[in-house]
Formats: sequence, structure tokens, C-alpha cells
Amino acid sequence: MNKKYNWAILGCGKIAKKFALELKGLPNANLYAAASRNLDNATSFASEFGFEKTYDSYKEMVKDPSVDIVYIATPHSHHLEHSLLCLNHKKAVLCEKAFAINSKEVLQMVNASKENNTFLMEAFWVRFRPKFKKVLELIKNEDLGKLKMVKSDFNFLGEYNPESRLYNLNLGAGSLLDIGIYPVFTSLMLLGKPTQIKAIPQFSPTGSEESITVFLSYKNGATAILNSSFKSDYKNNVELSFEKGHIAYDRFSNEPILLQTTTKNQQITFDAGPNLGYQFEAMHVMECLDKNLTESPTLPLSTSIDLMSILDTIRKEAGIVFPNHD
Ligand SMILES: NC(=O)c1ccc[n+]([C@@H]2O[C@H](COP(=O)([O-])OP(=O)(O)OC[C@H]3O[C@@H](n4cnc5c(N)ncnc54)[C@H](OP(=O)(O)O)[C@@H]3O)[C@@H](O)[C@H]2O)c1
Repeated sequence: MNKKYNWAILGCGKIAKKFALELKGLPNANLYAAASRNLDNATSFASEFGFEKTYDSYKEMVKDPSVDIVYIATPHSHHLEHSLLCLNHKKAVLCEKAFAINSKEVLQMVNASKENNTFLMEAFWVRFRPKFKKVLELIKNEDLGKLKMVKSDFNFLGEYNPESRLYNLNLGAGSLLDIGIYPVFTSLMLLGKPTQIKAIPQFSPTGSEESITVFLSYKNGATAILNSSFKSDYKNNVELSFEKGHIAYDRFSNEPILLQTTTKNQQITFDAGPNLGYQFEAMHVMECLDKNLTESPTLPLSTSIDLMSILDTIRKEAGIVFPNHD
């Protein structure tokens, strides 16, 4: 039997609830501590999911010697501060995407992980979901030939609230770091780093970007068109065009993946597991810790560095600036 790990949640907001629900089903995860800026919030979160302890201060929680792993679920504007807090107290960290606001911050986090010899991983959950693993398997199909184009979206109709993290620049607002990061991640995983980047943004009344279309080109002649927006109906498609075929899928649903080659059309099914799929990243963190690793071999810190450097270039092209971070 592998070790049982004491998990703490830092920031008890919306995604923390989805994560905690799935963490609860893992036999080697102990729901240990819920830390919020507000005791009532920590208490209601802890009682909803069964955490043993509550903290009304993140700083007090990281002093608790029983905490093994902290899941950071604050706005991305605070990921640097909260990751450093945990790493400097030798707590393993699973930190939500976007990993930080820019590459400078990501590098500080990576350095803190190395200096403290302590595990750090971006919570890019889709990397560990069975659907994406299946896609990575399918693209090796030689009948398809080379991948020539990635088209990918992530849109939803978001409520306009200037104080919310979607629209407040002080909280890292904008569709790119919130949802556009998924299409960018897909293109990075499938085509690597681009050689040329163009971006066309639309801005909201707070000055935050609320829709963006990104054009990427690659050394091998491939291209990508990526789109994210808080201003149109829900869409989460990925279309991959190869020399001799296509793959199409909805990123998050459990619908089959469509694979088309010159000789056949197939619907590829996969075992999605019981939940939305947050449990897979949590299982992976514990597997890494079982092996005394300080970073994931599946989602190494170099991937998070590359991802953020592409996002930095897109922001530069689009004129997206975060006043307290750039
Ligand atoms: N992986 C995914 O599928 C997914 C989905 C949605 C979001 N996310 C990511 O998760 C992070 C949190 O998103 P969310 O939608 O859960 O946000 P949220 O509902 O606003 O929750 C964020 C939490 O962070 C804490 N916090 C600390 N400082 C804060 C500040 N200055 N302002 C506001 N909140 C602060 C608060 O918790 P306390 O009051 O309890 O301290 C708050 O509830 C973001 O980085 C986002 O990109 C990931």
C-alpha cells in the first residue's frame, strides 16, 4: 500500500470545490485542511467535503507540519505568491492554471521548487485525462500523415462583472489566461513551439481582453488558429488536419473522438472514468511523490515554461498588459 497524503486546499472557490469532490474518491488522499481568507468559508468548505482542519489564513496553514500537498486554487494573479509560500515551507504544490501571469513569475516558482527540492506541477488536468491520452495515441497513426493544422476554441458566455477575476485586471483577467490557455496548450503538445505568432484581441470596458484569435506558424509548415472568448456560446472544439485525414473532438465531453482517413471514418471511444477528470492529476502528483520526484515526467516544468513564454508573446502581440505584473 502506497503512502496516504494529507492534502490542503489553498483558496476555497469554485474550482476548489470540483477538485475536492474528486480528491475525496482517491484512497491515498486524505482530505486534511481547507484554508481560506475567511473562517466561515473554510468551515463550510471543510464540512461539505470532509476536511479535518480549517484555517482562516494561508500563512498559518503552511506552518502545519502534517500538510503534505497543497492545491492552489486562487486567481492566477496570486499563484506566484501562494506557490512561494508553500514551497518555502517544503509543501508539495499542485497549482492551478494559468501557472502565473508571465514567464518571470513562472521562473521564480520553478527556482523555488529547485531550491527547496520540493515538488511543483501546474494543474493542467486535461494532460492526464483519458481523452487527451487517447488523442496522443491516435496522432501516431501513420495513415494520417503529418499534422498540418490545429484549430481549437474555448468560448463561453461570461457574466460581465468588473470585480470578477474574468474582468478585473488586478486578478489576471482575460480569456487568454483563463480559457485560451487550453487551445494554446493543445497546440504546444501537438506541434511544439511556434516560430511566428499573430493575435487579434477585443477588450472589455475594464481594459481586460475578453476575446482573442491567435494565429501560429511552425518551422515544419504547420499552422494553428486558436480562439477564446467570454462573449459567445459554449464551444470547446479541437480539429486536427493531417496530410491524409482529420481528428475532431470536444475537449471536455466524453463523446467519442472522430477519426477520418482516406479509407475509413471511425468513432473512437475511451474509458473516461467516473468523474470530470480532476482526479487523474491528483493521482499523478501522489505517484510522483511516491517516487520522491520534484517534478512530473508527464507534465514537466519545462512545458509550463514553454506554455507561458507563448502566452507572453501572444500578450505582447495583442497589447494585453497587467498593471501590477508587467
Ligand atoms: N482546471 C480547471 O478546470 C479550472 C476551472 C476554473 C478555474 N481554474 C483556475 O483556478 C483558479 C481559481 O479559479 P476559480 O474560478 O475557482 O476562482 P474563484 O471562484 O474566484 O475562487 C478563487 C479563490 O481564491 C481565493 N482568493 C485569494 N485571494 C483572492 C483575491 N484577491 N481575490 C479573489 N479571490 C482570492 C478565494 O478563496 P478564499 O476566499 O477561500 O480564500 C477565492 O474563492 C484560476 O487560476 C483559474 O484559472 C481552473
